Amino acid sequence: MTSRPAIPRHIAIVMDGNGRWAKARHRPRSFGHNAGRKAVREVVEGCLREGVEALTLFAFSSENWRRPEEEVGALMTLFVRALDKETDELHAQGVRLRFVGDLAAFDQPLRERMQAAMTRTTGNRKLHLNIAVNYGGRWDIVQAARDAAAAVGRGELRAEAIDEAVLGSRMCLAELPPLDLFIRTGGECRLSNFLLWQAAYAELHFTDTLWPDFDQASLHRAIEDYGRRERRYGRTGDQVATDKG
Ligand code: IPE
Ligand code: IPE
Ligand code: MG
Repeated sequence: MTSRPAIPRHIAIVMDGNGRWAKARHRPRSFGHNAGRKAVREVVEGCLREGVEALTLFAFSSENWRRPEEEVGALMTLFVRALDKETDELHAQGVRLRFVGDLAAFDQPLRERMQAAMTRTTGNRKLHLNIAVNYGGRWDIVQAARDAAAAVGRGELRAEAIDEAVLGSRMCLAELPPLDLFIRTGGECRLSNFLLWQAAYAELHFTDTLWPDFDQASLHRAIEDYGRRERRYGRTGDQVATDKG
């Protein structure tokens, strides 16, 4: 009997390695960031094909402001261009686009573009595509805690009632399926402050492939790798096997 392979419902990716990809070609780092756009299209196509429900991409971390001004500027220009160029296609594919992170840091024209793309695609259901910009996992936990504290201040919530579910419901992406698979390209084995809360029980997949080279076949390999994992959530392997049988 062949059973359907396990497909992660929600995948997150740290799209790392653009700079090294460009360096290997003796080109500026921004050339690598631009090349990474193709990989984004590849993973969106791949997720649509494989039936993944949600894809969350780390595009700019709250720490990436520390990069040289020129590189930050090039990345902002790239975001604007990508938004203008890709939104039509994503909309046609049935993709719902969302930006997660502290968006207040971006200038008004960019914020308006992000809002317009979110509003336009809000009714789409084939794939939830979340782009994390000026996002940090610790920021996410802090903003959820602040939100809960404000509710306590207004008398709408008792401090003793704050538990994992209450805080979790105030975190980014709470309305989506839990994160199943966390992928990082570029060879580093760290989370770099991405989705700290949401990754608590995600399966981790690290690959040396640099982000611009990541394609649908790479995504498929990561999903296959995920399918071989046994998710025990604290229980024993025997308990999991009994449950399945
Ligand atoms: C990831 O690629 C893209 C962003 C952080 C925006 P990098 O720019 O970090 O590439 P490497 O790690 O220097 O190769
Ligand atoms: C993480 O990559 C951020 C994004 C991919 C957007 P970095 O390249 O910034 O991470 P570190 O600095 O190597 O940890
Ligand atoms: Mg990097």
